[in-house]
Amino acid sequence: MQETPEILKLTNVNKSFPGVKALTDVHFSLRKGEIHALVGENGAGKSTLMKILSGAYKKDSGTIAFDGHEVEITSPKFSEKLGISIIYQELNLINRMTVAENVFLGRYPKKNGLIQWRQLNKDAEALFESFGIDMDVKAMLRSISIAQQQIVEIIKAVSINAKVVIMDEPTSSLTSRETEVLFRIMRTLKDRGIAVIFITHRLDEIFATCDRMTILRDGCYVGTREVSGITKDEMISMMIGRELTQQYPARDVALGDTVLEVKNLSDHSGRVKNVSFSARSGEVLGFAGLVGAGRTETMRLLFGCDPKSSGEIFIDGKAVSIAHPRDAITNRIGFVTENRKEEGLFLRSSVRTNTVMVAMEKILRFKLFLDFNKERSVAEEYVHMLKTATPSVNQPVMFLSGGNQQKVVLAKWLFSDSRIVILDEPTRGIDVGAKREIYEIINKLAADGKVIIVVSSEMEEIMGISDRIVVMHEGRIAGEVDKEHFSQSLITEYAVGGA
Ligand SMILES: Nc1ncnc2c1ncn2[C@@H]1O[C@H](COP(=O)(O)OP(=O)(O)OP(=O)(O)O)[C@@H](O)[C@H]1O
Ligand SMILES: [Mg+2]
Repeated sequence: MQETPEILKLTNVNKSFPGVKALTDVHFSLRKGEIHALVGENGAGKSTLMKILSGAYKKDSGTIAFDGHEVEITSPKFSEKLGISIIYQELNLINRMTVAENVFLGRYPKKNGLIQWRQLNKDAEALFESFGIDMDVKAMLRSISIAQQQIVEIIKAVSINAKVVIMDEPTSSLTSRETEVLFRIMRTLKDRGIAVIFITHRLDEIFATCDRMTILRDGCYVGTREVSGITKDEMISMMIGRELTQQYPARDVALGDTVLEVKNLSDHSGRVKNVSFSARSGEVLGFAGLVGAGRTETMRLLFGCDPKSSGEIFIDGKAVSIAHPRDAITNRIGFVTENRKEEGLFLRSSVRTNTVMVAMEKILRFKLFLDFNKERSVAEEYVHMLKTATPSVNQPVMFLSGGNQQKVVLAKWLFSDSRIVILDEPTRGIDVGAKREIYEIINKLAADGKVIIVVSSEMEEIMGISDRIVVMHEGRIAGEVDKEHFSQSLITEYAVGGA
Protein backbone atom coordinates (compact mmCIF):
# COMPACT_ATOMS: atom_id res chain seq x y z
CA MET A 1 0.00 0.00 0.00
CA GLN A 2 1.19 3.47 -0.88
CA GLU A 3 1.58 5.50 2.28
CA THR A 4 1.14 9.26 2.26
CA PRO A 5 4.62 10.78 2.30
CA GLU A 6 5.96 12.09 5.57
CA ILE A 7 6.54 15.78 5.95
CA LEU A 8 8.26 15.37 9.28
CA LYS A 9 10.08 12.55 11.01
CA LEU A 10 11.75 12.77 14.39
CA THR A 11 13.95 9.94 15.62
CA ASN A 12 15.47 9.38 19.05
CA VAL A 13 15.07 12.96 20.21
CA ASN A 14 16.46 13.72 23.67
CA LYS A 15 16.21 16.87 25.73
CA SER A 16 17.21 17.62 29.31
CA PHE A 17 16.76 20.64 31.50
CA PRO A 18 18.65 21.04 34.76
CA GLY A 19 17.25 18.26 36.93
CA VAL A 20 14.66 17.14 34.37
CA LYS A 21 14.90 14.65 31.53
CA ALA A 22 12.09 16.13 29.47
CA LEU A 23 12.38 13.85 26.41
CA THR A 24 13.96 10.40 26.09
CA ASP A 25 14.38 8.83 22.63
CA VAL A 26 11.15 10.26 21.30
CA HIS A 27 9.89 9.38 17.82
CA PHE A 28 7.31 11.29 15.91
CA SER A 29 6.19 11.02 12.33
CA LEU A 30 3.81 13.34 10.57
CA ARG A 31 2.20 12.74 7.17
CA LYS A 32 1.31 15.44 4.71
CA GLY A 33 -2.26 16.58 5.17
CA GLU A 34 -2.98 14.73 8.38
CA ILE A 35 -4.27 16.01 11.69
CA HIS A 36 -2.13 14.38 14.33
CA ALA A 37 -2.86 14.59 18.05
CA LEU A 38 -0.01 14.72 20.52
CA VAL A 39 -1.19 13.58 23.92
CA GLY A 40 0.14 12.77 27.35
CA GLU A 41 -0.09 13.78 30.96
CA ASN A 42 1.01 17.15 32.27
CA GLY A 43 4.76 17.34 32.00
CA ALA A 44 4.95 14.45 29.51
CA GLY A 45 7.04 16.60 27.17
CA LYS A 46 4.54 17.68 24.50
CA SER A 47 5.30 21.40 24.54
CA THR A 48 9.02 20.74 24.78
CA LEU A 49 8.94 18.56 21.66
CA MET A 50 7.03 21.24 19.79
CA LYS A 51 9.40 23.97 20.95
CA ILE A 52 12.26 21.94 19.48
CA LEU A 53 10.39 21.96 16.17
CA SER A 54 9.75 25.68 16.37
CA GLY A 55 13.37 26.45 17.15
CA ALA A 56 12.67 27.79 20.64
CA TYR A 57 14.67 24.93 22.22
CA LYS A 58 17.64 22.98 20.88
CA LYS A 59 17.50 19.20 21.14
CA ASP A 60 20.40 17.44 22.88
CA SER A 61 20.47 14.59 20.37
CA GLY A 62 18.38 12.81 17.75
CA THR A 63 17.47 13.58 14.17
CA ILE A 64 14.78 15.60 12.46
CA ALA A 65 13.91 15.03 8.81
CA PHE A 66 11.74 17.59 7.05
CA ASP A 67 10.24 16.58 3.75
CA GLY A 68 12.78 13.80 3.44
CA HIS A 69 15.87 15.83 4.30
CA GLU A 70 17.68 15.90 7.58
CA VAL A 71 17.65 19.38 9.10
CA GLU A 72 19.09 21.15 12.13
CA ILE A 73 16.51 23.57 13.44
CA THR A 74 18.74 26.19 14.93
CA SER A 75 16.38 29.15 15.33
CA PRO A 76 12.72 30.16 15.15
CA LYS A 77 13.52 31.93 11.89
CA PHE A 78 14.83 28.74 10.33
CA SER A 79 11.80 26.79 11.49
CA GLU A 80 9.49 29.38 9.98
CA LYS A 81 11.42 29.24 6.72
CA LEU A 82 10.96 25.49 6.55
CA GLY A 83 7.24 26.10 6.83
CA ILE A 84 6.64 25.19 10.47
CA SER A 85 4.17 27.47 12.16
CA ILE A 86 3.42 27.27 15.87
CA ILE A 87 0.51 28.80 17.69
CA TYR A 88 1.27 29.41 21.33
CA GLN A 89 -1.44 29.83 23.88
CA GLU A 90 -0.30 33.30 24.80
CA LEU A 91 -1.44 35.80 22.23
CA ASN A 92 1.25 37.67 20.34
CA LEU A 93 -0.91 40.35 18.80
CA ILE A 94 -0.91 44.11 19.03
CA ASN A 95 -3.95 45.71 20.59
CA ARG A 96 -3.80 49.05 18.89
CA MET A 97 -3.74 47.66 15.37
CA THR A 98 -6.56 46.34 13.27
CA VAL A 99 -7.14 42.66 12.60
CA ALA A 100 -5.75 43.00 9.06
CA GLU A 101 -2.66 44.86 10.24
CA ASN A 102 -1.97 42.18 12.81
CA VAL A 103 -2.32 39.32 10.35
CA PHE A 104 0.06 40.81 7.82
CA LEU A 105 2.42 42.51 10.25
CA GLY A 106 5.80 42.91 8.57
CA ARG A 107 4.40 41.76 5.22
CA TYR A 108 2.22 44.67 4.18
CA PRO A 109 1.58 44.98 0.43
CA LYS A 110 3.62 47.89 -0.92
CA LYS A 111 3.77 49.86 -4.15
CA ASN A 112 6.57 52.35 -4.77
CA GLY A 113 7.46 51.99 -1.13
CA LEU A 114 3.97 52.93 0.02
CA ILE A 115 1.77 50.60 2.01
CA GLN A 116 -1.38 49.68 0.09
CA TRP A 117 -3.92 49.84 2.90
CA ARG A 118 -6.91 49.00 0.77
CA GLN A 119 -5.13 45.98 -0.65
CA LEU A 120 -4.15 44.94 2.87
CA ASN A 121 -7.77 44.87 3.99
CA LYS A 122 -8.84 43.08 0.82
CA ASP A 123 -6.17 40.42 1.26
CA ALA A 124 -7.15 39.93 4.88
CA GLU A 125 -10.82 39.63 4.01
CA ALA A 126 -10.05 37.06 1.32
CA LEU A 127 -7.89 35.11 3.73
CA PHE A 128 -10.57 34.85 6.43
CA GLU A 129 -13.17 34.08 3.80
CA SER A 130 -11.09 31.23 2.42
CA PHE A 131 -11.44 29.61 5.83
CA GLY A 132 -15.13 30.37 5.98
CA ILE A 133 -14.71 32.82 8.86
CA ASP A 134 -16.73 35.94 9.29
CA MET A 135 -14.41 38.64 10.62
CA ASP A 136 -14.35 42.42 10.57
CA VAL A 137 -10.74 42.87 9.46
CA LYS A 138 -10.84 46.62 10.05
CA ALA A 139 -11.80 46.23 13.70
CA MET A 140 -9.20 47.19 16.29
CA LEU A 141 -7.86 44.10 17.91
CA ARG A 142 -8.75 45.31 21.40
CA SER A 143 -12.39 45.65 20.39
CA ILE A 144 -12.89 41.96 19.62
CA SER A 145 -13.22 39.14 22.15
CA ILE A 146 -10.26 37.14 23.40
CA ALA A 147 -11.58 34.07 21.65
CA GLN A 148 -11.80 35.96 18.37
CA GLN A 149 -8.30 37.25 18.92
CA GLN A 150 -7.23 33.66 19.20
CA ILE A 151 -8.77 32.93 15.82
CA VAL A 152 -6.83 35.91 14.41
CA GLU A 153 -3.64 34.50 15.89
CA ILE A 154 -4.34 31.16 14.25
CA ILE A 155 -5.14 32.64 10.85
CA LYS A 156 -2.01 34.76 11.06
CA ALA A 157 0.10 31.71 11.77
CA VAL A 158 -1.34 29.59 9.00
CA SER A 159 -1.11 32.39 6.45
CA ILE A 160 2.69 32.29 6.52
CA ASN A 161 3.05 29.59 3.90
CA ALA A 162 2.96 26.88 6.49
CA LYS A 163 3.45 23.20 5.70
CA VAL A 164 3.14 22.13 9.30
CA VAL A 165 0.94 23.92 11.79
CA ILE A 166 1.38 23.23 15.49
CA MET A 167 -1.42 24.06 17.90
CA ASP A 168 -0.55 23.71 21.57
CA GLU A 169 -3.81 23.57 23.54
CA PRO A 170 -5.61 26.11 21.37
CA THR A 171 -9.08 25.20 22.59
CA SER A 172 -8.69 25.64 26.32
CA SER A 173 -10.12 29.15 26.30
CA LEU A 174 -12.47 28.82 23.35
CA THR A 175 -16.23 28.43 23.60
CA SER A 176 -17.76 25.48 21.83
CA ARG A 177 -18.82 27.65 18.91
CA GLU A 178 -15.29 28.94 18.43
CA THR A 179 -13.92 25.46 18.82
CA GLU A 180 -16.08 24.52 15.85
CA VAL A 181 -14.50 27.36 13.88
CA LEU A 182 -11.08 26.08 14.85
CA PHE A 183 -11.94 22.57 13.70
CA ARG A 184 -13.10 24.00 10.41
CA ILE A 185 -9.76 25.78 10.01
CA MET A 186 -7.98 22.51 10.75
CA ARG A 187 -9.97 20.64 8.12
CA THR A 188 -9.35 23.36 5.55
CA LEU A 189 -5.63 23.09 6.22
CA LYS A 190 -5.83 19.33 5.84
CA ASP A 191 -7.61 19.68 2.50
CA ARG A 192 -4.78 21.89 1.33
CA GLY A 193 -2.26 19.21 2.19
CA ILE A 194 -0.99 20.99 5.30
CA ALA A 195 -0.27 18.83 8.32
CA VAL A 196 -1.55 19.85 11.75
CA ILE A 197 -0.19 18.81 15.13
CA PHE A 198 -2.88 19.27 17.73
CA ILE A 199 -2.28 19.18 21.48
CA THR A 200 -5.31 18.95 23.73
CA HIS A 201 -6.38 17.39 27.03
CA ARG A 202 -9.95 17.05 25.80
CA LEU A 203 -10.02 13.57 24.41
CA ASP A 204 -13.35 14.02 22.65
CA GLU A 205 -11.76 16.64 20.44
CA ILE A 206 -9.26 14.08 19.25
CA PHE A 207 -12.00 11.72 18.13
CA ALA A 208 -13.77 14.60 16.42
CA THR A 209 -10.82 15.83 14.37
CA CYS A 210 -7.70 13.72 14.31
CA ASP A 211 -6.40 11.02 11.98
CA ARG A 212 -3.60 9.67 14.14
CA MET A 213 -2.25 10.23 17.60
CA THR A 214 1.11 9.93 19.31
CA ILE A 215 1.28 9.30 23.01
CA LEU A 216 4.08 10.44 25.31
CA ARG A 217 4.50 9.38 28.92
CA ASP A 218 7.16 10.79 31.26
CA GLY A 219 9.11 12.09 28.29
CA CYS A 220 9.13 8.70 26.55
CA TYR A 221 7.49 7.60 23.33
CA VAL A 222 4.61 5.19 24.01
CA GLY A 223 3.25 4.76 20.50
CA THR A 224 1.39 6.10 17.49
CA ARG A 225 -2.12 4.91 16.59
CA GLU A 226 -4.86 5.48 14.10
CA VAL A 227 -7.61 7.30 16.00
CA SER A 228 -10.31 5.23 14.31
CA GLY A 229 -8.82 2.07 15.80
CA ILE A 230 -8.64 3.06 19.45
CA THR A 231 -11.13 3.51 22.27
CA LYS A 232 -11.11 6.28 24.82
CA ASP A 233 -10.19 3.83 27.59
CA GLU A 234 -7.24 2.49 25.60
CA MET A 235 -6.13 6.03 24.94
CA ILE A 236 -6.25 6.88 28.63
CA SER A 237 -4.38 3.80 29.73
CA MET A 238 -1.64 4.48 27.19
CA MET A 239 -1.35 8.00 28.52
CA ILE A 240 -1.26 7.25 32.21
CA GLY A 241 0.07 3.71 32.17
CA ARG A 242 -2.86 2.29 34.10
CA GLU A 243 -6.60 1.91 33.82
CA LEU A 244 -8.79 4.71 35.00
CA THR A 245 -12.05 3.15 35.95
CA GLN A 246 -14.20 5.92 37.26
CA GLN A 247 -13.61 9.44 36.15
CA TYR A 248 -15.85 10.96 38.81
CA PRO A 249 -15.28 9.45 42.24
CA ALA A 250 -18.43 8.98 44.31
CA ARG A 251 -19.02 11.29 47.25
CA ASP A 252 -21.21 10.55 50.20
CA VAL A 253 -21.32 13.65 52.34
CA ALA A 254 -24.28 14.76 54.41
CA LEU A 255 -24.84 18.45 53.82
CA GLY A 256 -24.63 20.72 56.88
CA ASP A 257 -25.90 24.21 57.64
CA THR A 258 -25.91 27.04 55.17
CA VAL A 259 -22.50 28.68 55.34
CA LEU A 260 -22.54 31.15 52.49
CA GLU A 261 -25.36 33.37 51.39
CA VAL A 262 -25.05 35.86 48.59
CA LYS A 263 -27.87 38.31 48.01
CA ASN A 264 -28.47 40.54 44.99
CA LEU A 265 -24.89 40.83 43.91
CA SER A 266 -24.34 43.26 41.03
CA ASP A 267 -21.38 45.00 39.52
CA HIS A 268 -21.00 48.39 37.86
CA SER A 269 -20.51 47.11 34.34
CA GLY A 270 -23.73 45.13 34.11
CA ARG A 271 -22.00 41.79 33.74
CA VAL A 272 -23.44 40.58 37.03
CA LYS A 273 -27.06 41.37 37.75
CA ASN A 274 -28.78 40.61 41.04
CA VAL A 275 -27.13 37.29 41.62
CA SER A 276 -28.30 35.44 44.72
CA PHE A 277 -27.38 31.97 45.87
CA SER A 278 -26.42 30.05 48.96
CA ALA A 279 -24.30 27.03 49.74
CA ARG A 280 -24.14 24.58 52.62
CA SER A 281 -21.27 23.03 54.43
CA GLY A 282 -20.10 19.93 52.56
CA GLU A 283 -21.74 21.06 49.37
CA VAL A 284 -20.20 21.25 45.91
CA LEU A 285 -22.05 23.98 44.08
CA GLY A 286 -21.46 24.11 40.33
CA PHE A 287 -21.75 27.19 38.15
CA ALA A 288 -22.58 26.43 34.54
CA GLY A 289 -23.19 28.77 31.64
CA LEU A 290 -21.70 29.87 28.40
CA VAL A 291 -18.37 31.65 28.37
CA GLY A 292 -19.18 35.28 29.11
CA ALA A 293 -22.30 34.53 31.16
CA GLY A 294 -20.83 36.30 34.18
CA ARG A 295 -19.66 33.36 36.25
CA THR A 296 -16.06 34.49 36.68
CA GLU A 297 -17.23 38.06 37.24
CA THR A 298 -19.56 36.84 40.01
CA MET A 299 -16.70 35.00 41.69
CA ARG A 300 -14.46 38.05 41.41
CA LEU A 301 -17.12 40.17 43.12
CA LEU A 302 -17.51 37.61 45.85
CA PHE A 303 -13.77 37.55 46.40
CA GLY A 304 -13.46 41.36 46.41
CA CYS A 305 -11.45 41.67 43.21
CA ASP A 306 -13.90 44.11 41.66
CA PRO A 307 -16.18 46.71 43.28
CA LYS A 308 -19.82 45.77 43.83
CA SER A 309 -22.65 48.10 42.94
CA SER A 310 -25.00 46.19 45.22
CA GLY A 311 -25.21 43.02 47.19
CA GLU A 312 -24.70 41.46 50.58
CA ILE A 313 -22.66 38.48 51.63
CA PHE A 314 -23.40 36.42 54.73
CA ILE A 315 -21.18 33.80 56.27
CA ASP A 316 -22.78 31.68 59.00
CA GLY A 317 -25.67 34.10 58.91
CA LYS A 318 -23.53 37.14 59.69
CA ALA A 319 -23.09 39.93 57.18
CA VAL A 320 -19.47 40.34 56.13
CA SER A 321 -17.87 43.14 54.22
CA ILE A 322 -15.64 42.08 51.35
CA ALA A 323 -14.18 45.05 49.52
CA HIS A 324 -10.78 43.59 48.79
CA PRO A 325 -9.28 40.10 48.36
CA ARG A 326 -7.66 40.63 51.78
CA ASP A 327 -11.14 40.72 53.32
CA ALA A 328 -12.04 37.52 51.51
CA ILE A 329 -8.93 35.76 52.78
CA THR A 330 -9.65 36.98 56.33
CA ASN A 331 -13.09 35.42 55.98
CA ARG A 332 -11.39 32.22 54.88
CA ILE A 333 -12.45 32.32 51.25
CA GLY A 334 -10.03 30.88 48.70
CA PHE A 335 -10.05 31.52 44.97
CA VAL A 336 -8.35 29.35 42.38
CA THR A 337 -8.52 31.64 39.37
CA GLU A 338 -8.94 30.54 35.79
CA ASN A 339 -6.11 32.76 34.73
CA ARG A 340 -3.17 31.29 36.59
CA LYS A 341 -0.47 33.20 34.73
CA GLU A 342 -1.84 36.63 35.49
CA GLU A 343 -3.50 36.19 38.83
CA GLY A 344 -2.56 32.94 40.40
CA LEU A 345 1.19 32.66 40.53
CA PHE A 346 4.47 34.47 40.86
CA LEU A 347 6.12 32.78 37.91
CA ARG A 348 9.68 33.66 38.86
CA SER A 349 9.26 32.37 42.38
CA SER A 350 9.67 28.78 43.41
CA VAL A 351 7.04 26.14 43.94
CA ARG A 352 7.59 26.41 47.71
CA THR A 353 7.19 30.20 47.86
CA ASN A 354 4.04 30.05 45.79
CA THR A 355 2.59 27.27 47.90
CA VAL A 356 2.80 29.16 51.19
CA MET A 357 2.15 32.61 49.81
CA VAL A 358 -1.41 33.13 51.04
CA ALA A 359 -1.02 31.48 54.40
CA MET A 360 2.39 32.80 55.27
CA GLU A 361 1.47 33.12 58.95
CA LYS A 362 1.17 29.36 59.23
CA ILE A 363 4.90 28.95 58.79
CA LEU A 364 6.14 31.84 60.90
CA ARG A 365 8.35 31.18 63.90
CA PHE A 366 7.64 33.43 66.88
CA LYS A 367 5.20 35.16 64.52
CA LEU A 368 8.18 36.82 62.94
CA PHE A 369 10.55 34.63 61.01
CA LEU A 370 9.79 32.41 58.08
CA ASP A 371 10.46 28.83 59.00
CA PHE A 372 12.14 27.66 55.81
CA ASN A 373 12.22 24.01 56.83
CA LYS A 374 8.52 24.08 57.40
CA GLU A 375 7.98 25.92 54.15
CA ARG A 376 9.86 23.20 52.33
CA SER A 377 8.10 20.32 54.01
CA VAL A 378 4.67 21.87 53.43
CA ALA A 379 5.46 22.40 49.75
CA GLU A 380 6.79 18.87 49.45
CA GLU A 381 3.65 17.50 51.02
CA TYR A 382 1.49 19.17 48.40
CA VAL A 383 3.78 18.17 45.53
CA HIS A 384 3.38 14.61 46.73
CA MET A 385 -0.37 14.84 47.26
CA LEU A 386 -1.10 16.42 43.87
CA LYS A 387 1.64 14.47 42.08
CA THR A 388 3.07 17.72 40.76
CA ALA A 389 5.90 17.03 38.31
CA THR A 390 8.86 19.18 39.37
CA PRO A 391 12.50 18.32 40.06
CA SER A 392 12.22 19.99 43.48
CA VAL A 393 10.16 22.52 45.40
CA ASN A 394 12.87 25.08 44.67
CA GLN A 395 12.06 25.10 40.95
CA PRO A 396 10.73 28.45 39.66
CA VAL A 397 7.10 27.94 38.67
CA MET A 398 7.71 29.26 35.15
CA PHE A 399 9.65 26.12 34.31
CA LEU A 400 6.75 23.81 35.14
CA SER A 401 4.41 22.55 32.45
CA GLY A 402 1.03 24.26 32.19
CA GLY A 403 -0.92 21.64 34.08
CA ASN A 404 1.61 21.45 36.87
CA GLN A 405 1.41 25.20 37.35
CA GLN A 406 -2.30 24.77 37.92
CA LYS A 407 -1.57 22.22 40.64
CA VAL A 408 0.61 24.77 42.46
CA VAL A 409 -2.26 27.28 42.44
CA LEU A 410 -4.47 24.61 43.92
CA ALA A 411 -1.89 23.76 46.60
CA LYS A 412 -1.71 27.40 47.64
CA TRP A 413 -5.40 27.57 48.46
CA LEU A 414 -5.53 24.13 50.00
CA PHE A 415 -2.76 25.13 52.40
CA SER A 416 -4.53 28.34 53.30
CA ASP A 417 -7.30 26.33 55.00
CA SER A 418 -10.09 28.15 53.27
CA ARG A 419 -13.61 27.30 54.38
CA ILE A 420 -15.16 28.45 51.17
CA VAL A 421 -13.14 27.39 48.16
CA ILE A 422 -13.93 28.90 44.77
CA LEU A 423 -12.49 26.97 41.84
CA ASP A 424 -12.76 28.68 38.47
CA GLU A 425 -12.13 26.18 35.67
CA PRO A 426 -9.90 24.14 37.98
CA THR A 427 -9.08 21.43 35.46
CA ARG A 428 -8.38 23.56 32.41
CA GLY A 429 -5.21 22.24 30.82
CA ILE A 430 -5.07 19.35 33.27
CA ASP A 431 -4.65 15.77 32.09
CA VAL A 432 -7.20 13.01 32.72
CA GLY A 433 -5.30 11.34 35.54
CA ALA A 434 -4.70 14.58 37.40
CA LYS A 435 -8.31 15.66 36.85
CA ARG A 436 -9.38 12.62 38.78
CA GLU A 437 -6.99 13.58 41.59
CA ILE A 438 -8.50 17.05 41.71
CA TYR A 439 -12.01 15.58 41.93
CA GLU A 440 -10.83 13.49 44.85
CA ILE A 441 -9.48 16.58 46.57
CA ILE A 442 -12.83 18.30 46.02
CA ASN A 443 -14.53 15.35 47.67
CA LYS A 444 -12.15 15.49 50.58
CA LEU A 445 -12.78 19.20 51.05
CA ALA A 446 -16.50 18.49 51.03
CA ALA A 447 -16.10 15.71 53.57
CA ASP A 448 -14.23 18.19 55.78
CA GLY A 449 -17.34 20.36 55.73
CA LYS A 450 -16.08 23.04 53.40
CA VAL A 451 -18.11 24.82 50.77
CA ILE A 452 -16.83 24.30 47.27
CA ILE A 453 -17.92 26.46 44.38
CA VAL A 454 -16.85 25.19 40.98
CA VAL A 455 -17.12 27.13 37.74
CA SER A 456 -16.67 24.87 34.77
CA SER A 457 -17.47 25.01 31.09
CA GLU A 458 -17.22 21.29 30.70
CA MET A 459 -20.73 19.99 30.99
CA GLU A 460 -19.78 16.44 31.80
CA GLU A 461 -17.43 17.58 34.53
CA ILE A 462 -19.83 19.94 36.23
CA MET A 463 -22.54 17.29 36.29
CA GLY A 464 -20.03 14.71 37.47
CA ILE A 465 -18.91 16.59 40.55
CA SER A 466 -21.64 18.98 41.72
CA ASP A 467 -24.46 18.49 44.21
CA ARG A 468 -26.37 21.36 42.69
CA ILE A 469 -25.82 23.51 39.63
CA VAL A 470 -26.55 27.20 39.25
CA VAL A 471 -26.83 28.18 35.60
CA MET A 472 -26.06 31.74 34.53
CA HIS A 473 -27.12 33.58 31.42
CA GLU A 474 -26.13 37.13 30.53
CA GLY A 475 -25.20 38.10 34.06
CA ARG A 476 -28.26 36.64 35.75
CA ILE A 477 -29.10 33.36 37.34
CA ALA A 478 -31.21 31.57 34.77
CA GLY A 479 -31.91 28.45 36.76
CA GLU A 480 -30.87 26.06 39.48
CA VAL A 481 -30.82 22.31 39.13
CA ASP A 482 -30.55 19.64 41.83
CA LYS A 483 -28.49 16.54 41.34
CA GLU A 484 -31.52 14.31 40.72
CA HIS A 485 -32.53 16.51 37.82
CA PHE A 486 -29.17 16.99 36.14
CA SER A 487 -29.41 16.71 32.40
CA GLN A 488 -27.35 18.23 29.68
CA SER A 489 -30.39 19.44 27.78
CA LEU A 490 -31.95 21.19 30.78
CA ILE A 491 -28.72 22.95 31.73
CA THR A 492 -28.04 23.98 28.14
CA GLU A 493 -31.55 25.35 27.86
CA TYR A 494 -31.03 27.56 30.90
CA ALA A 495 -27.58 28.55 29.65
CA VAL A 496 -28.87 29.88 26.36
CA GLY A 497 -31.64 31.78 28.09
CA GLY A 498 -34.46 29.41 27.22
CA ALA A 499 -36.54 27.56 29.82
N1 LIG B 1 12.56 25.77 30.32
C1 LIG B 1 12.47 24.74 31.15
N2 LIG B 1 13.32 24.61 32.20
C2 LIG B 1 13.24 23.56 33.04
N3 LIG B 1 12.35 22.56 32.91
C3 LIG B 1 11.47 22.62 31.89
C4 LIG B 1 11.48 23.71 30.95
N4 LIG B 1 10.50 23.50 30.05
C5 LIG B 1 9.91 22.34 30.40
N5 LIG B 1 10.48 21.81 31.50
C6 LIG B 1 10.14 20.53 32.14
O1 LIG B 1 10.09 19.54 31.14
C7 LIG B 1 9.01 18.63 31.38
C8 LIG B 1 8.11 18.58 30.18
O2 LIG B 1 7.38 19.79 30.12
P1 LIG B 1 6.38 20.16 28.94
O3 LIG B 1 6.03 21.61 29.12
O4 LIG B 1 6.95 19.74 27.65
O5 LIG B 1 5.12 19.25 29.31
P2 LIG B 1 3.69 19.12 28.57
O6 LIG B 1 3.56 17.72 28.10
O7 LIG B 1 3.55 20.20 27.58
O8 LIG B 1 2.68 19.32 29.80
P3 LIG B 1 1.26 20.13 29.91
O9 LIG B 1 0.18 19.21 29.45
O10 LIG B 1 1.10 20.37 31.39
O11 LIG B 1 1.37 21.40 29.13
C9 LIG B 1 8.33 19.10 32.65
O12 LIG B 1 8.82 18.35 33.73
C10 LIG B 1 8.74 20.55 32.76
O13 LIG B 1 8.77 20.94 34.10
MG1 LIG C 1 2.33 21.94 27.42
